[in-house]
Amino acid sequence: MRPVIVAGNWKMHTTPADAGELARTIGARTRVDGVTVRDALAGPDVAAPDGTGLAVGAQDVHHEAAGAFTGAISAPMLDGLATWVIVGHSERRRDACETDELIGRKLVAARAAGLRAILCVGEQLADRDAGRAHDIVDGQVRGCLAASDPAALGGDDGRGFTIAYEPVWAIGTGRNARGADAAEMAGAIRAALASLAFSGGGDDVPVLYGGSVASSNIDEFMAEPAIDGALVGGASLKPDEMAAIVARAGLTAAARAAA
Ligand code: 13P
Repeated sequence: MRPVIVAGNWKMHTTPADAGELARTIGARTRVDGVTVRDALAGPDVAAPDGTGLAVGAQDVHHEAAGAFTGAISAPMLDGLATWVIVGHSERRRDACETDELIGRKLVAARAAGLRAILCVGEQLADRDAGRAHDIVDGQVRGCLAASDPAALGGDDGRGFTIAYEPVWAIGTGRNARGADAAEMAGAIRAALASLAFSGGGDDVPVLYGGSVASSNIDEFMAEPAIDGALVGGASLKPDEMAAIVARAGLTAAARAAA
C-alpha cells in the first residue's frame, strides 16, 4: 500500500527562528509531540523521529556529489540535516532554467545519497488550454527518468521517490486543479513509469498533488485513490491550515489502511 504523504514547501520564507516556531506550532496542532525543525535537524535520524512520521526535507540539491560549485548544496552535504529533497520544482525550472535531463541527474544524486526525493512535474496554463497537459507531463516524467535505472531510484517500494503533480497555473494562484483532473494526470504519470520499466507499472510510486492546496479543498484530492497526498506551499506557512490539511489527509490514510 502506498503511504499518504503531506509535504510543506516553505520556499524562501522564514528565518531559523520563524521556522522553529512554525514547525513547533504545526507539530503541536497536529498533536505531534516534541518535534521542531531545530530538533529534527539536530538528530542523526530524522526520517521519523519518535515514530512521529515527521521529517525534514531540502528544497533542491546539486546534481554532483562534490566539486567546485560555489553556493550549491550536494546531497551528501545534507546528511544528518534532511532525509527528503524536492527536485524539479517549477520555480527552479523557471528561475534556474533547469531541464528534465538535469533534474534527472539531481534525482539520481539524491537517491545515491539515500534521500527520499519528490520529483515535481506540471504543465503551464497554455498547455492545459491547448489540450497538451498530458503530453507535457508525460514528457517531463520520461525526460527526468529515461536515463535512470528504476532499481537505483528505489521507487518500487514507495520509499525511494515520489512524484508531485503541480500544474504551474495552480501554484500560488488560489486556483487549484480539480481532483478528477489531478487523478487523471496521476494516471498519466504512472503510465509513463510503466513504459519506463518500473515494476508494478509505477503503482508503488506515490503521486501527490500540489497547487493552491488548502484545508477547504484537500478532501477533493484525497478522495481520489490515485492521489497519495499533497505538496503544500502557501498554506504550509499557516499552522491552522497545515494542521487541518494533515488531519484531513490522516483520515484518508486511516481509511485506506482499514480497507
Ligand atoms: P501553493 O500551495 O502556494 O500554490 O504552492 C504549491 C507549491 O509550489 C508547492 O511546492
